[in-house]
Amino acid sequence: MAEIRIRNTEERISGEQNVRAFLESQEVLYEHWDASKLPGHLQDKFVLSDEEKAEILATYDVEIRELAERRGYKTWDIVALSDATPGLDDILKRFEQVHTHTEDEVRAITAGRGIFIIKGGEDVGYFDVELEAGDVISVPETIPHFFTLMDNRQIVAVRLFIETEGWIAHPFEDPAFIKA
Ligand SMILES: [Fe+2]
Repeated sequence: MAEIRIRNTEERISGEQNVRAFLESQEVLYEHWDASKLPGHLQDKFVLSDEEKAEILATYDVEIRELAERRGYKTWDIVALSDATPGLDDILKRFEQVHTHTEDEVRAITAGRGIFIIKGGEDVGYFDVELEAGDVISVPETIPHFFTLMDNRQIVAVRLFIETEGWIAHPFEDPAFIKA
């Protein structure tokens, strides 16, 4: 289950109802898939063959197609990152810049953990959403955010796209953002 940390106040929000209510108030979509559906040999695997990626997509085919139909996604794939990923530090440096997109950014975590850092409403400021397997999140288009890994630096996620070009990151310079 996802957890929230509000950066300005260090307040943490946990528990399904609270997390859902908070994210809804920030217009961030939050849903949950059954993480235990993933076959055991994939639950702790972060270097994946094409066959294994296809197996993950097949496991969640119903969930993916339902979400895609409801929200207009046309294509999807699997992203896997870990210390075994060549150039991981450079990739993370590139990720860790506040930016926006012209379409929403959807991630369904199937293994490992990750964090979205999102610019909330004026009364909230930036907040972290710590995600684990089963968490599904969509950051609305035009909302400044970035994504990074947690201390274990391991994640597998399904990404869904309306148009792959919609994913280009537009840097968002924000003096209010303080790295923490
Ligand atoms: Fe993004």
